[in-house]
Amino acid sequence: MIRLGVNIDHVATLRNARGGNHPDPLTVAKALVGSGMDGVTIHLREDRRHIRDADAEAICAWAGRPVNFEMAATDEMVGIAARLRPHGCCIVPERRAEITTEGGLDVANHGQGLRPAITRLREAGIRVSLFVDPDPAQLRAAAALGADVVELHTGAYANGRLGELERLREAAALTEGLGLECHAGHGLTFANVTPIAALPQVRELNIGHFLIGEAILTGLPAAIAQMKRLMIEARDG
Ligand code: PXP
Repeated sequence: MIRLGVNIDHVATLRNARGGNHPDPLTVAKALVGSGMDGVTIHLREDRRHIRDADAEAICAWAGRPVNFEMAATDEMVGIAARLRPHGCCIVPERRAEITTEGGLDVANHGQGLRPAITRLREAGIRVSLFVDPDPAQLRAAAALGADVVELHTGAYANGRLGELERLREAAALTEGLGLECHAGHGLTFANVTPIAALPQVRELNIGHFLIGEAILTGLPAAIAQMKRLMIEARDG
């Protein structure tokens, strides 16, 4: 089986554009149960540009679907996650000026800096994922740090970089021997999801921006159902 985590950050982006309460991310998450969404992904950024503390609180308390809480490895975020206890945390690099998460964590060179966050989250009973580029050195470092999961950054693949699918294939294959669960995400669309969903080690895809954009045309439940169909068909061969 392959799961679809739906990133609803941009529901909050739309809400924030007018400063009111509509559309409300929790209401949207609840409405998506039954659409093919297996989990809800939210990224509480340091600058709170989309998801806010109250959203994170409400969505984690709801627990209608497992919550994947994306966060930077800061003391503030670790404290919030340890209190809200989402199903999983995905640690991502975060720079204030970036439009979205632009690259994976450099676990190979700066992994020791992540150790306290990983330890504290795991002690709180939270499964820890590290968002990394499909690079064997990063995967080995993630395993050595005791991560449960790696999420492979598919952004370069989505941008059409040559050889990237092969890198992702090799990285996914390597996760098995390292005892890491393999997730993938970033920039995935109806047009490019199939080869990624077909990788047998990939257990979960996290997809946001495309689905929210597609929802303007077809509605979000229909966009999610179509994405899930493509993922299952890719798996079936
Ligand atoms: N996975 C991670 C770790 C991310 O940071 C993001 C973007 O928030 C995604 C997946 C989803 O990317 P997209 O919005 O391009 O589908």
